[in-house]
Amino acid sequence: MEEQKVSGEINRVAVTGAAGFIGSHTCEGLLDAGKTVIGIDNLSTGKRINLKGIGEHDRFSFFQADICQEDAMATILGDFQPDAVIHLAALVSVPIAEHNPDENYRINVLGTKLVAQAALKAAARRMVFASSAAVYGNSDQLPLSEEGPTNPINQYGMAKLEAETLLLSYEKSHDMTSTCLRFFNVYGPRQDPTSPYSGVISIFADLCASGRPVTVYGDGRQSRDFIYIKDITRGIITSATNTELPGGIYNLCTGQGKTLLELLDALKGIDPDVPEPIFEGEREGDIKHSLGNPSVARRILGFEATTNFAEGIRELQN
Ligand SMILES: NC(=O)c1ccc[n+]([C@@H]2O[C@H](COP(=O)([O-])OP(=O)(O)OC[C@H]3O[C@@H](n4cnc5c(N)ncnc54)[C@H](O)[C@@H]3O)[C@@H](O)[C@H]2O)c1
Repeated sequence: MEEQKVSGEINRVAVTGAAGFIGSHTCEGLLDAGKTVIGIDNLSTGKRINLKGIGEHDRFSFFQADICQEDAMATILGDFQPDAVIHLAALVSVPIAEHNPDENYRINVLGTKLVAQAALKAAARRMVFASSAAVYGNSDQLPLSEEGPTNPINQYGMAKLEAETLLLSYEKSHDMTSTCLRFFNVYGPRQDPTSPYSGVISIFADLCASGRPVTVYGDGRQSRDFIYIKDITRGIITSATNTELPGGIYNLCTGQGKTLLELLDALKGIDPDVPEPIFEGEREGDIKHSLGNPSVARRILGFEATTNFAEGIRELQN
């Protein structure tokens, strides 16, 4: 951890939410790219075991800390002097955020502000923020585009939108490039199938792997823009480390909707013996289709999600 800051290149990267699903893969990707990395996490939903592959890495250090503790954040980032900060820590459960709006605001908006302030104080030059397709709400103007309207329908989406606005305002008044990445439905190894927030893929994959039937609400033709974790981490790491790229708001999505029936087919392709699904009535409030427009990220960041859906599902089941 003794390497010095070299102006120009991004070598030192701090990752909040490092022990989570996306955070742990991001830290691994950064280390593979030769970066020096610190991970910060309060382990509220994240797990130390997610970092077991890199825990002993000589370019990685882990700090168990809460992003809402101003002094701790200032000290950790002040000591490390990151070139870039990737902010992934969040209260990620939509239902928990809905029932605890103050806590949601404290972590997802004020926590983001504290991370950004500590990053600025430590002279970080780039900040990447994990935003979400939830900022679009239940729109029927598909595919969802960065230039289109935002209309969050829950506290979680509201907080992500407010945090985006805050970070973009910092970019205008300070010398720090802010990139807000609106992730669509991310899937991949280490996503916790028991979490209330967890994507349908990890829940279905977990049930199928243990020979239990999945429950499909509605006809199974509802669709989502599922994006594989390796594509997401590539988008995050490029945004954090390529100093040529401008900040702004970008969808990270595939631009291809997959239905639950297609997901079940992909799981059957791996194990033909998975039990037949149980169909139940549609759930009130469930979004029928979600699809992102990837063209702005492709044009400006050069980002393309390349993982084939069936391949991604296969890797998940390995
Ligand atoms: N997984 C998805 O499909 C998806 C989609 C859109 C956006 N996102 C966003 O991506 C980010 C990462 O999500 P994930 O799926 O990896 O979830 P996750 O729960 O696996 O990771 C979040 C991490 O943040 C940590 N954390 C929470 N509050 C903290 C705090 N106050 N201080 C320090 N650490 C704290 C948790 O312990 C956890 O390790 C989140 O910001 C989430 O809102 C995820």
